[in-house]
Amino acid sequence: MIPKLIIHGGAGLVESPEFTERQYEKALKGIIKETYSKLLKKGAREAVLYGVRLLEDNPLFNAGYGSRLQKDGRVRMSAAIMDSVSQKFSGVINVCNVRHPIDVANSLQRKRHTVLGGRGATEYARRQKMEYCSPLAPHRIKEHEERVKGETGTVGVVAIDSRGCICAGTSTGGVGYETPGRVSDSATVAGTYASKVCGVSCTGKGESIVNQAVAAKIVARVEDGVPLNVAVERLFKIARSKKLKFGLISLDAEGNAVVGNGYNSKVLYAKHYGQHIETFLKR
Ligand code: GLY
Repeated sequence: MIPKLIIHGGAGLVESPEFTERQYEKALKGIIKETYSKLLKKGAREAVLYGVRLLEDNPLFNAGYGSRLQKDGRVRMSAAIMDSVSQKFSGVINVCNVRHPIDVANSLQRKRHTVLGGRGATEYARRQKMEYCSPLAPHRIKEHEERVKGETGTVGVVAIDSRGCICAGTSTGGVGYETPGRVSDSATVAGTYASKVCGVSCTGKGESIVNQAVAAKIVARVEDGVPLNVAVERLFKIARSKKLKFGLISLDAEGNAVVGNGYNSKVLYAKHYGQHIETFLKR
């Protein structure tokens, strides 16, 4: 199996009006190249962690540093990870002041309780000595002052390694100016899921993603024998007819990478097939 990789940086064509499509493409290309090297050396799970960390560190994207602020001016972040070997979903919801929420999610995989939220999650991250970070980026403070209500955001990585292990990871700062305490889809099985047949990471309006149980539904359909591209298209036909704004990236056990776009959505993605990189600008 030739290792394959797909990453995303949100479901809106331009996630913040201050940045251009080319800036998003350049950032995604740099990140996917570095992450692919990690995939070759360390396998799918380490590559997903590495790629999501890079996306969390880049203020262009709505995750980690650069997360959107909630209505009360605080940043609360969520992340999840799952792979086809462990078959264990772990996630963190509304954690504060950590550099890499994906590391908090990952550290929970072997714990008794695999999903933590709110203050307990932040206290857990402190106890685990997760790296501290104030995630407030200047352009996000400006957006908050202007009361910009977002609908999209989120980053994600799905990888398959040479042994056939599939891993999916997602991280988000939410949608922006939301009610404090709102729960994103990202650290639910609607937003992130993987089994031995495929892995999925979603982006876009979390309420719609949860209502459609997107990631888990796609994986279940592929487990029942539906080809990944058919499962994705079936779901998005409904999403577009209902005007639901979300998208996803996915990768199956044969190495097929499929991107899904809902109503008025265009996922900012990059795919790496070993020699060739394709981005949302298709160059
Ligand atoms: N998909 C991210 C969110 O809705 O919070």
